[in-house]
Amino acid sequence: MRKLLLITSLLLPLSGFGQDTPTMLAIQIAEFGEPGVLRVREIPRPAPGPREILLRVHAAAVNPVDTSVREGRAGGLSGAELPYIPGFDVSGVVAVTGPGVTRFQFGDEVFAMLDLRRGGGYAQYVIVKETEAASKPARVGHAEAAAIPLVALTAWQALFEVAKLQEGQTVLIHAGAGGVGSVAVQLAKWRGARVIATASDYNQEFLREIGVDVPVDYRNQRFEDFARDVDVILDPIGGETQVRSLQILKEGGTLVSIVGLTPEGRRPGRNVNATSILVQANGEQLGQIGELIENGTLEPIVSYRFPLEQGPQAHEQSQTRRTRGKIVFEIE
Ligand SMILES: NC(=O)c1ccc[n+]([C@@H]2O[C@H](COP(=O)([O-])OP(=O)(O)OC[C@H]3O[C@@H](n4cnc5c(N)ncnc54)[C@H](OP(=O)(O)O)[C@@H]3O)[C@@H](O)[C@H]2O)c1
Repeated sequence: MRKLLLITSLLLPLSGFGQDTPTMLAIQIAEFGEPGVLRVREIPRPAPGPREILLRVHAAAVNPVDTSVREGRAGGLSGAELPYIPGFDVSGVVAVTGPGVTRFQFGDEVFAMLDLRRGGGYAQYVIVKETEAASKPARVGHAEAAAIPLVALTAWQALFEVAKLQEGQTVLIHAGAGGVGSVAVQLAKWRGARVIATASDYNQEFLREIGVDVPVDYRNQRFEDFARDVDVILDPIGGETQVRSLQILKEGGTLVSIVGLTPEGRRPGRNVNATSILVQANGEQLGQIGELIENGTLEPIVSYRFPLEQGPQAHEQSQTRRTRGKIVFEIE
């Protein structure tokens, strides 16, 4: 199968469904279900519309939401219509520019988070709106760049837009070793905050390496013993973790959940703020994030690299919820 795909991809520039219809390889799901529904198919290559670019994708990252979309559990997000190509994070090279594109030209290296209602990143080519993209930081490869957009925009919007994290404040970041958490830690340190973060025992040293001031082993320690009067909390866990977290917020402090609010979160009963957010694609913010990668402030963390044919394995790894940093498809 792999050999066949390789041959198909080598022949791609010469092949097609019709003479004028170039094709591409993509992971396309024809039905919702288990990881096995992620299959590589040869399908027509899309064409960009006004203010859109066609990106030759070199890497696409996996996010937990992709597994929800695959299972048909993503509600009003993307994937409502089958067949569907998952993937919201991409890095690659501009292959075609649509009418009215002014910020990018053929051959530019860009990275992007695609709108959650669209997706399409697990493919050799994808349509990217000009407003979703930013110049790829030259210091890192495509895999590292693709590991950034969705998680960094989530952390940026939660910490800076909603919670307005300031220099000198204390922030508690749950799941500090995960995709969102490991970027949130680095962004909070850049802002000048004191960072407390939770992870398992085997990730305690990793938390220190990425800048955490107070690592907490959440399986063997209570974070309440290390964090009190906290200004800001980032919650990628929910449930009991969220309920307990509300108790250690300072008066007027803010908890931002990215997995939804519990009943206690909706009515905290104290003078604290609790909000739930859904990340939005934003090329302008991604440009600022790209500069932080370029100057070495933010290091992308890629733990697993898969070829497109190993879609099921990539999703199985994501579903362990034990991944450090990110899982990325490298796409030839
Ligand atoms: N609302 C939004 O816009 C938005 C955006 C992005 C993500 N999300 C959601 O946020 C969640 C996290 O996303 P992600 O990409 O960071 O996931 P991820 O990379 O899969 O998270 C894995 C990490 O979670 C840690 N972890 C698991 N259970 C934990 C617990 N009880 N306490 C502390 N750490 C724990 C693990 O650390 P150990 O192995 O050390 O335990 C692992 O490193 C997902 O549910 C995702 O769907 C929402």
